[in-house]
Amino acid sequence: MLRPQSGTESNPVNLTQRLGIELPIIQAPMAGSQGSALAIAVSNAGGLGSQPCAMLTVDAMRKELAAVRAATSKPFNVNFFCHTPPREDAARDAAWRDALAPYYRELGVDPNDIPKGAPRRPFDAEYADALAEFAPPVVSFHFGLPSRDLIDRCRAWGAFIMSSATTVDEARWLEDRGVDAVIAQGAEAGGHRGMFLTDDVATQVGTFALLPQIVRAVRVPVIAAGGVADATGVAAALALGASAVQIGTAYLLTSEATTSAVHRAALASEAARVTALTNLFSGRPARGIVNRLMREVGPMSPIAPAFPLAAFAIAPLRVKGEAAGSGDFSPLWSGQNATGCRAIPAAQLTRELAVHRAA
Ligand SMILES: Cc1cc2nc3c(=O)[nH]c(=O)nc-3n(C[C@H](O)[C@H](O)[C@H](O)COP(=O)(O)O)c2cc1C
Repeated sequence: MLRPQSGTESNPVNLTQRLGIELPIIQAPMAGSQGSALAIAVSNAGGLGSQPCAMLTVDAMRKELAAVRAATSKPFNVNFFCHTPPREDAARDAAWRDALAPYYRELGVDPNDIPKGAPRRPFDAEYADALAEFAPPVVSFHFGLPSRDLIDRCRAWGAFIMSSATTVDEARWLEDRGVDAVIAQGAEAGGHRGMFLTDDVATQVGTFALLPQIVRAVRVPVIAAGGVADATGVAAALALGASAVQIGTAYLLTSEATTSAVHRAALASEAARVTALTNLFSGRPARGIVNRLMREVGPMSPIAPAFPLAAFAIAPLRVKGEAAGSGDFSPLWSGQNATGCRAIPAAQLTRELAVHRAA
């Protein structure tokens, strides 16, 4: 059964009021490309800044959140992945290293020098305990939700909970489990697909097709994400029923982002017009600018180890490549619309993105 659109009389939730932000702009959490400086700048400008934690140890998270608390009294979001860590698969791992062997030889990388350990960790009790010290007003998740117990811990300090949906079914699943808002992540989006009830990338839906369908399917506010790069795009998403817009790629060149030099150069070049979903860099599909590794080994490979294990074998190639000024082996995450990327302060970008917002 179709339900009324959010923002109608039967669903008067005003997301910006509820979050205590002035502008309907959420800076997308971007693990590996930002720290607290970006989140602080966006929150202080009236949007919702986000601190990604998927690639942070618990201690590193504490440092970033202490910096946020010291620099702003405005609301902010803290973001986690919530995948199930895979079992090691030695045969797949070996096949993956074999596929990369020509590159190890070419770059003079010792394949035995490859680091161990998980570069991306799901939300767990240790994170939750540390997070409680900071009581962030908003907590968002990617790849579904953590256990009920972990969500309840966040609820204990009154956190507003959101998560990404890439299909109508995922949006309903999230609503059934009590999220306060759904992020409708269209196929255009940069970085990892938040998909968790399907692994079929071929049927992923574009933002402006997905958004109105999710708005009709759930009662909670819906946030649009994917391919929105300027104020006109923001206004269009709001007109389609979004309560706010989550924007990632456009922030990657801002002064506060920690985007690497090769990534910045690629985003500012014509290469940014050609992106694809690839699983080579982590094991899960993510959208990035097509580079040499994606052209020659992917962009999708059936032998890439499960998320996040694929990242280990790529890491030394990436380090060597970037040291030589090359992004051939780097994840150059980008959405399909990088035209909003400008090397300006994040506060300016945030205000400009909101200039045509619906009254
Ligand atoms: C560099 C980069 C890193 C990302 N990392 C995360 C992350 O850590 N957590 C998350 O929930 N989403 C992440 N995303 C996805 C964003 O939340 C969002 O869906 C996406 O940026 C929206 O599309 P756009 O990039 O076209 O604006 C990332 C996106 C990019 C571009």
